[in-house]
Amino acid sequence: MRIQDAVVLVTGANRGIGRALVAGFLERGAARVHAAARDPRTLEGLVGQGAGAAGRVVPLALDITDPAAVAAAAEAASEVNLLVNNAGLHAMGHVLDMDLESVEAVMRTNWLGTLRMLRAFAPVVERNGGGAIVNVISVGAFAGTPQLGPYPASKAALNMLTQAVREDLAPRGISVHAVFPGPVETDMLRYAVEHLPGIGSYTAATADEAAAAILDGIEAGADEIFPDPFAERVRDGLRTDPKGVERLLIDVEKSPPRD
Ligand SMILES: NC(=O)c1ccc[n+]([C@@H]2O[C@H](COP(=O)([O-])OP(=O)(O)OC[C@H]3O[C@@H](n4cnc5c(N)ncnc54)[C@H](OP(=O)(O)O)[C@@H]3O)[C@@H](O)[C@H]2O)c1
Repeated sequence: MRIQDAVVLVTGANRGIGRALVAGFLERGAARVHAAARDPRTLEGLVGQGAGAAGRVVPLALDITDPAAVAAAAEAASEVNLLVNNAGLHAMGHVLDMDLESVEAVMRTNWLGTLRMLRAFAPVVERNGGGAIVNVISVGAFAGTPQLGPYPASKAALNMLTQAVREDLAPRGISVHAVFPGPVETDMLRYAVEHLPGIGSYTAATADEAAAAILDGIEAGADEIFPDPFAERVRDGLRTDPKGVERLLIDVEKSPPRD
């Protein structure tokens, strides 16, 4: 997939990895980047960026759990040929006793919201001659860590969804890429560290570093992208010692960490 001249849409573009991805796409010559956010006012500083009179960043109001908003986005961004499903939600707690509202919100966002985006945008990308869809998952998909509530299950489900639609969409000229970040310095990681200080002791990548590795992976056509050193450690472990990876991820919750 060529990023040069691509028309891109990034969900959750107002902060964290999403915001860094928008900057990365601009640097690598994307023709236009639809920057989607629940509240477009939070896109200040991004809109108008990039060469050209009006800039190449187009703001888009989009809550991926809202069917009408997703349908409207597919109409408004009808020239997209590269979609990045980056938006995600975290809720800490133990699934046996945390409130079910939070559990539902995480599944509704990370799994159902992403599925809704896939259903709306696969025809758009296809109509534009094919392209790529990128789902930002997490290394958390590889272990049922008890204190991360519904998050690992939501990301494991997203991983399975990603694999399934890869098969469905390949004949339609759309490549589907799974991204498995480890710890990345964003609000989401800061929120996790508040609850589990041990996580913060692992070396985290910056959002810019993670975004650059994700773009490298897209350009290389990689099915799976592990965009930081911790993620690469998980990738290597999955090949040689899957049980060790499960232990590593569960132990990340506990202090003291091991690196
Ligand atoms: N940071 C990490 O360590 C890490 C590790 C592995 C995977 N990830 C994944 O990477 C992705 C980006 O995370 P991040 O670290 O950049 O987190 P972040 O700073 O918390 O940003 C999350 C983004 O998702 C958006 N979002 C949440 N619910 C949404 C919804 N219903 N509709 C549209 N947008 C929604 C947020 O919008 P608002 O500003 O409106 O809330 C925000 O833009 C997520 O999928 C996350 O699970 C992150």
